[in-house]
Amino acid sequence: MSTFALTQTSDLSIRPRRLRSTPAMRRLVAENRLHTADLVLPLFVREGEARPISSMPGVMQHSLDSVRSVVTEAAALGLGGVMLFGVPDTKDAIGSGATDPDGILNRATQVVVSEVGDSLVVQTDLCLDEFTDHGHCGVLDAQGRVDNDATLLRYRDMALAQAGNGSELLGLSGMMDGQVAAVRDELDSNGFQDTAILAYSAKYASAFYGPFREAVGSSLRGNRKTYQQDPANRREGAREALLDVEQGADIVMVKPAMSYLDVLADVAAVSPVPVWAYQVSGEYSMIEAAAANGWIERERAIVESVTSIRRAGADAVLTYFASEIARTLLDQS
Ligand code: PBG
Repeated sequence: MSTFALTQTSDLSIRPRRLRSTPAMRRLVAENRLHTADLVLPLFVREGEARPISSMPGVMQHSLDSVRSVVTEAAALGLGGVMLFGVPDTKDAIGSGATDPDGILNRATQVVVSEVGDSLVVQTDLCLDEFTDHGHCGVLDAQGRVDNDATLLRYRDMALAQAGNGSELLGLSGMMDGQVAAVRDELDSNGFQDTAILAYSAKYASAFYGPFREAVGSSLRGNRKTYQQDPANRREGAREALLDVEQGADIVMVKPAMSYLDVLADVAAVSPVPVWAYQVSGEYSMIEAAAANGWIERERAIVESVTSIRRAGADAVLTYFASEIARTLLDQS
């Protein structure tokens, strides 16, 4: 029997297209939908005047002043939270600015907490790369290698600085072994039992962080392949997440998002705690660049990309599109 004959039979009773027939039907059967409360907006704050980031059109390095209006809008839109990154003026080998009470991230945290701390969850990036002159996520040993255990001591101090300034959720993004246990211990020993930990558990050494380097003014010497994961590896994603859960992570994250949806699905299948994903700078800029050329429909691509991240298993998504998606959702409701 030819295929043609088969499709002509009258007993084609199973027709998946029925549920795609009208906008109302499609909306009713949609398995996943975006909600503003599940979106977290990453924000860069620098000393001095605000300025644009050329490799991320539409994204700014904010000043301590301009960040106020952005977070006020984020809160009004109903976003779940903001993730703060500091862009310091001066850097050194140990990233002193990260623990300096007057350091830009610590000051920005105070400002944002006082502005919107009651309406959304204020989160801070806990990593040294924004603050070190060599651009690595930790301190270096005499041979120039990233020293895991010495770095943990710096992370402990950073955790106290960030929690002390009111950050509610510390984003541990440095990929040092034992970082969650070290930070949890330091927080608990200093009265910060209620400060939560978001572990960037499965974080890959990715080309998609490219624009972020400009965003935080980092010129990395070498690469991060001795601490971030190899893009070739799937299995260790879930392993890293479970190790972080054992050490006390309150939330685990996969990063980047779109090229790692398999890892995200693996982690979501085994994690007893919420699972988030980070749609990183390069994912943002790819969409912006293609849209600027008229090669893809911008709004559709944004919603499709973030929906696919939710579908793969993310409970919440960090995305530079957060406020824009929220505005679109508001318009639709
Ligand atoms: C580390 C950190 C990075 C990003 C978030 N936290 C850079 C890196 O690991 O190389 C990248 C975020 C992005 O690309 O949007 N502090």
